[in-house]
Order: sequence, then structure tokens, then C-alpha cells
Amino acid sequence: MSKYHSANIEMLRNEIRRHEYNYYVINQPEISDFEFDQLMNELIRLEAENPHLITSESPSQRVGSDLTKEFKSINHSVPMLSLSNTYNEEELIDFDRKVRDSLPEGTVVQYVVELKIDGISVSLRYVNGILFSAATRGDGIAGEEITTNVKTIKSVPLVINNSAISKFDLSDFEVRGEIFMDIKGFAKLNEERAAKNEKLFANPRNSTAGTVKLQDSKLVAQRPLDIFTYYLNNKKEPAGTHFENLELLRALGFKVNDKSRLCNSISEVLDYCNDWGIKRNELPYEIDGIVIKVNSLSQQNILGTIAKSPRWAVAYKFQAKQGVTRINNIVWQVGRTGALTPVAELEPVFLAGSTISRATLHNIEEIERKDIRIGDSVIIEKGGDVIPKVVSVNLEERAPDSIKTKAPIKCPVCTGELYSPEEEVAIYCENFECPAQIKGRIQHFASRAAMDIEGLGQAIIDRLVDLNYLKSYADIYSLHNMRKELIDLDRQGEKSIDNLLEAIEKSKEKPFSKVLFALGIRLVGSGAAQVLVRHFKSIKNLSNASEEEILEVHEIGPGISKSIKRFLGEPGNQELLKRLIDSGLNFEEEFTNPEEQLLLGKTFVITGTLSSMSRDDAKQKVLDLGGKVSSTVSNKTDFVLVGENPGSKYEKAKKLEIEIINEEQFISLIETKI
Ligand code: IVH
Repeated sequence: MSKYHSANIEMLRNEIRRHEYNYYVINQPEISDFEFDQLMNELIRLEAENPHLITSESPSQRVGSDLTKEFKSINHSVPMLSLSNTYNEEELIDFDRKVRDSLPEGTVVQYVVELKIDGISVSLRYVNGILFSAATRGDGIAGEEITTNVKTIKSVPLVINNSAISKFDLSDFEVRGEIFMDIKGFAKLNEERAAKNEKLFANPRNSTAGTVKLQDSKLVAQRPLDIFTYYLNNKKEPAGTHFENLELLRALGFKVNDKSRLCNSISEVLDYCNDWGIKRNELPYEIDGIVIKVNSLSQQNILGTIAKSPRWAVAYKFQAKQGVTRINNIVWQVGRTGALTPVAELEPVFLAGSTISRATLHNIEEIERKDIRIGDSVIIEKGGDVIPKVVSVNLEERAPDSIKTKAPIKCPVCTGELYSPEEEVAIYCENFECPAQIKGRIQHFASRAAMDIEGLGQAIIDRLVDLNYLKSYADIYSLHNMRKELIDLDRQGEKSIDNLLEAIEKSKEKPFSKVLFALGIRLVGSGAAQVLVRHFKSIKNLSNASEEEILEVHEIGPGISKSIKRFLGEPGNQELLKRLIDSGLNFEEEFTNPEEQLLLGKTFVITGTLSSMSRDDAKQKVLDLGGKVSSTVSNKTDFVLVGENPGSKYEKAKKLEIEIINEEQFISLIETKI
């Protein structure tokens, strides 16, 4: 019976694999989703009855049950290089010239051009035709093993069947590619997260990076990850050209982007780059450029690599994504400090993966310089994860009756007086009780980086302030007396209010540095708050310090010390502090073990994109361990932490011979010291 089942199960698996390939790799399904689910359920049933027949490469095993506690390090058999960037035609022509100069005279050079998918690169190793391991790029030499997570990606074959190319030696080969999330999948994921009040991902690349490093592969399986492969290394049978390798990958069942082309000259390459520069918004996934590779592998060998990038390939990076739309209105938002920020309300446009309906105009000077007016047709730009901005106005389309934009003369929220400090372009609302400022201060107080009160987001804060339940952040700690009113208010009912009250209670455990930051003292960011806490240890000491004494603290400038004295000198703020102290918040630094401060006195500069954490997280880790983070490289810098695509800081660090560390070295540095 077992024999019968074994053959039966394997046939069923092959059937399912074929449908996975049809659906996820070549996008040509033959059966409905329902029929597919039925096949999969049948397989799961048969395997449940015969657990001894389950194999790790069975399609039912894409989701494992174990949690990955720690991602192991894997050495790459061939380093995973990065690419140097070019930004214009001249630089590409220069690349072509250098390539041809380095090859014997008269050599014919062909290039393969590929879309540069904005995702996370991965290395897949197959042993005897079965997916053996998957690893991130890491520092290029070693990456992290993410096999369990990668197995959940349906377009990654778990088994390779060489029936199509019987010659191919399947015993041990490596495939590399880019894991990504398409724009629709990304948008849907963010919608779901918004509904659950979870933090949104800034772009598909970030959400891909976050997803491949999740510890629970069941969650990964629910995220819409996909892959394009672009590299094959089969030492046993090296191919002649890169383009042949792409064909081979396709024949083996891998997903290969169908926009890749073979070019016979650099002018064909330029045409391809320009073409996709225009058409990139039509793609269902994000690209950030074009990759240009010398086609012949023997030529690639001659050209070799310098530092971390090959001389046989280069990236052509696109300019920030721009679009054209119209300004429907200009509104002035009032922030927690009272500062007014002009925001353009736009005719919604779809640009690079999301619909944009607002753009920041920064300040009145910027509006005047660009002469931005309501009704104008404008070019907007979105770069990385920043808020879109207005680049320029299309003056030819301006209506003859358009009116020059002026700064408001009263606060648009409370109609209070405005003032503009001499040395600043910003305009401020003077009224400390302005509802917009109150809301902003409470929002800042409850935010993740400060007291991190889950469930106390913008919408509920707005309502509670409008209802006068909250007049300051100190009132947050009296909300438990209003449980009944809150439940009546909240349609979601008791549970969510109890969760909120619990989160408020829990926030009382936050250390003094978070509390100090949460107070929202102008210019006191989270870094300054930590420095101040380390120096003064308690609010009492800080309050007793003179402006000069505060200024003496390294890293604290005159603006900050003045602002602190002003804040603490206000009777209203004294009253707020007293109430927060009475509520049980920490206003003293807890005892810190000197061993936890082992980065004390060390200054870091962080540059480039990190893969396992954001730059802010890395910064936080340095600060937590007593170190400092600076934005410029100088002789005072101890370490420069370099991620992917580092900027000029990297060059400067090399020049000044400052110790350069990669992400992995950074992690081991902080891990040994925690
Ligand atoms: S080739 C030396 N091809 O871009 C070869 N990379 O800056 C390096 N990428 O780390 C990789 N699409 O994550 C290559 N078609 C493509 C690519 C691609 C996206 C990423 C990849 C790599 C980075 C290089």
C-alpha cells in the first residue's frame, strides 16, 4: 500500500509543481484556483495519512512550522558583488570605452541589458536538483540563511527537473536573483496593515526586506513575494554567455524577466535605458534602473572586478520618479511646535506604486521662489521614502487669473496670532492652547519613538482633544477614570479600550530618556534626550542646571540649551511635569551597568542602505550602548558603518583611513557588547 501511495503522491506533487510553474512563473494557469486548492488539499490529506513519505521539497512543505530564532551565516561560493552606478549617457559611454580598452583590440563586445528590480538579492543553492539553501547578500562574502522563508515563494522552484535539458548537471549549482513585491501586492499589504493600525511600509523594497527576515515563515507565506532570477553558476558546465545562462534558467523552470535584451552596441544600450526611463511606470513592479552586463563570460573574466564591483557590469540609475498634476488647494498645517507647514492638495496621480494626493511645499520662501499657486499644473517628484515634493510649475498652463500665494496672517486652526522668529523662515502660531498644537504634542508623546502607546493614534487623539477629554499629554494618565465614557465613544467596544488603557499603564515603564524626548521640547530629539539623561541623570538636576551648564555638555548647542531652559521655566510646563511625576513616569535614569556602555566615547557615521535594519535602528543601537552618531566623517569618527550603495562618506572614510565596518561586523560588534 505504501508503494502505491508513494508513486501516487509523487505524481500528485509533480502535477501541483506543474500548475505552480504555470501560474507563478509563466503566468499561464491551466486550472482555476479552486481546482488547484483541491489538488493541494488532496496532497496534504495523503501526506497526513503517510507522514513517513513527506519530503522537504514537497509543495505542501513551502511553509514550515518552526520559528527561525536566528538566521545562520552562509559563505557565498562566489562573492555577491554590487554594481557601480552611472546616471547619464556620458557615464555609460565611458563604461563602454573602458570595457573595450581593457579587451584585446578589435574585440566585439555585446551587452545584456536587464531591468534593475528594486528588491533584495538572494542566492539559491540547489543540490541534486533540490533547493538546498537560500541566503541574503549580506556583506557580499557571507549572507544570512533564509531558506525557510524563501521556500514560501511560489515562483522559486523547490525541485528542478532536467527533463527539458537532459545534459544539465544538477548535482550542485547556484542561482541568484531579486526577491521583490509587486506594486499591487504591496499596496494591498499596506491597506491591511492600515486597517490593523500597524506601521506602513514605505515602499515595496522595504517591505520585501522586512518580510524575508521575519522569524515566522507562515507570515512570510502570506506576503506577496516574487522573484526574478538573473545569474546561474554551474561550475561543472560553464556556459559561454550570460544571455545563454538566462535562457538556461528559463528552461530549468526559473522565472526570468522577459524584458532582458541583447545589445550589439552601447547606442542600443542607451536606447533601452531611455525607453525604460519613460515606460517604467507601466511596469507592475518597481525598478530603479537598468543593469548592463558584458555578455561573453570569457570577456567578463578578463575584465575582472575592482573592489566590490565587477568591471564587466554597471547600473544605470534613473532620476527620481516624476509626474505631472494640478494643485487643487494649498493648506497650512499646524504642527506640535506651532510651526505652519504649507501642503499642496493635488489632483490624485498614480506615481511609482502609490496614489499621491499631497505634497509638502516646505515653507513660504520655497513657495515664493518657485511661485507655486493654487490651480497650477506642476511637476512632482517622489524619491525613496520621502514625502513627494513639487519640483516646478508649468507656467505655460497657468490660468491668467491665478493669484500669488501668500502666507496666512492668522492661525488657520485657532485664528490666533502668528509670529516669525527673525533667524527663521518658519511661521509659528503663538497660541500654546491651539488645538492643532495640543493634538500634535500628544501624538508625539504617544508615538513609537517616544512613549510608544499602542492604540493611541492620530484619529483617537483628534477625537479625544475635540471632546476635551484630553487637554494635554498629562491627561493621558487620567483616562482610566473615564473608561465608561471611552467605551461609549468607541464603536469597537470594551476590548480595544482596555487594551489602550493597558498600553498607557505599560508606558510608565519607559526610561527617562524616552520621557524627556516625549515632552516635545523644541530641538530636543531622541539623541539629545539620551545625551542629556546620561549627563544629568534626573529631571531635578536638569532643572537646576543653568543654560551654560547645559551648553557644556558635548553635542548640546546653544539652541537646545536655551529651548530647555525656556520649556522648564514655563509654569504650565512645571505643572505638567508634576502631574507626570505623580502618575509614576520615570524622571530619573535607572542604574546602568557600565558594561552596557561599551561604545562610550565612540563616534559612528552610518552610510548606505542597511539590509537587516534601518539606519535609525542602527543609530539607536549605537546610542543605547553609549556611542555617538554623527552625520559627517571627520578625524573624530571612530567607525563608518557602510551599507549598500554608500555615498561620498564612504570615500571620505577611506581617504581619512577611518575604520570601515559592514553591517555584519556592526551586528557582531553590538551583539558581543550587549
Ligand atoms: S546583477 C555583479 N542584475 O542590484 C552583478 N542585479 O547594485 C550584480 N539587482 O545587489 C547583480 N536587478 O540586488 C543584477 N537584473 C539584475 C538586477 C540586480 C536588481 C540588484 C541586486 C544587486 C544590486 C546591485
